[in-house]
Amino acid sequence: MKTLEPDARLTPALAPRQAALTQPQGTPRVLTAADSTADAAMARYQHLSRAIAGRPLPLALLDVDLLEHNARDLLQRAGNLPIRLGSKSIRCVEVLRRVQAMSPRFQGLLCYSAREAAWLATLGFDDLLVAYPTVDTADLDAVAAQLQQGRRIVLTVDDAAQVGHIASRGRALGVRFLLSIDVDMSSSFPGIYFGMRRSPLQTPQAVVALARTIALTPGAVGLVGLMGYEGQIAGLQDAVPGQSLKNMMLRRLKQSSVRELAARRQACVAALRDAGFVLDFVNGGGTGSIESTAADSSVTEIAAGSGLYAPGLFDHFSQFHNAPALCFALQVVRRPTPDIATCGGGGYIASGPAGADRLPRPYLPAGMQLIAQEGAGEVQTPVRLPAGFDVEIGAPLFFRHAKAGELAERFERLHLLQGGEIVGDAPTYRGQHQCFL
Ligand SMILES: Cc1ncc(COP(=O)(O)O)c(C=O)c1O
Repeated sequence: MKTLEPDARLTPALAPRQAALTQPQGTPRVLTAADSTADAAMARYQHLSRAIAGRPLPLALLDVDLLEHNARDLLQRAGNLPIRLGSKSIRCVEVLRRVQAMSPRFQGLLCYSAREAAWLATLGFDDLLVAYPTVDTADLDAVAAQLQQGRRIVLTVDDAAQVGHIASRGRALGVRFLLSIDVDMSSSFPGIYFGMRRSPLQTPQAVVALARTIALTPGAVGLVGLMGYEGQIAGLQDAVPGQSLKNMMLRRLKQSSVRELAARRQACVAALRDAGFVLDFVNGGGTGSIESTAADSSVTEIAAGSGLYAPGLFDHFSQFHNAPALCFALQVVRRPTPDIATCGGGGYIASGPAGADRLPRPYLPAGMQLIAQEGAGEVQTPVRLPAGFDVEIGAPLFFRHAKAGELAERFERLHLLQGGEIVGDAPTYRGQHQCFL
């Protein structure tokens, strides 16, 4: 591949704007707010292009300065509570380590798979909560092996059948599994189901009944925690441009739901305490709900992860704004028309209800658009270029994923940008040959 200096690949159309930004002499032109935003975005595009020049594309790029800025923001929003990092939204061991090293308030990990938790335990991580139920024998065996090594891994349950499976494996292996109960945090309003379809446990009575089942199961299981994840608050944007009525309705629904959920979580914790159970932790929340979850006095720790990379689906929350720390660069490989550039790769579609919001976001240069008929393709992604911008074959264009951790499944490493320069790279889970779900 011929490697060109990024600046040489930009056409003269950009040159005057660049000169206006960098010109050392003469009277500076007075910039309007729109000018300065556009110029800052162009400067960022040129800067990132220069930083990655000569590296094989596509690549994933993590701005460590922005990551750390976002980590500090999460801590601030959580008040005094510890934050358990959601590993599914990170999927890179070095990033987990770096962020945990920033503050003792980053405590423990919220894992998305039992085998993942067991693997992380072998790498020295401890205090691992597997947030989603499993009864898979290989999963349980992997966790049991780490428990026997003295690591703390807690499994999630919301059904007596799961408890039965886990206990029977525990008896066979001579291990006592640690369990946390997941309480349903959804709300129902007339004609609207507002929440996730996860745990069937909606009342203190149901939670205490499962806790008693655990207590009465001989030897192999013990209850240590409670989790209540309010996905409809934590993961649903409520300040999306162009839908002000919907935003207003969502914010109202969120307010009502938060009141109801805090009462429900508190009632469950109180009922367990009254029934004689002692909990080590009560986990709640996610990036989008930190303030309201922290305001619930029954919660002892917040779960969060997405806010670190700050992907597209977290751009429009009314309560906070994180800086886009993770993006990916694709190479322009074709120019079907003067205003369209087609890149290699890019079809990194996010999970969830299939829709346009699951597509990658064209990022830099600002103003690029996906082509509706093609979207982001399996091996090629065309984009309509912003007016006045031209780009040569071989140059990079930058995009962001809609979700946080899933991009790490597409790349073996994240290139690390710090102080404006590439300072190294960090293998993703995939780069370490780990694939869990
Ligand atoms: C159980 C649980 N807790 C917390 C979160 C929030 O994670 P994040 O901050 O990455 O959105 C999730 C996300 O789906 C989750 O499933």
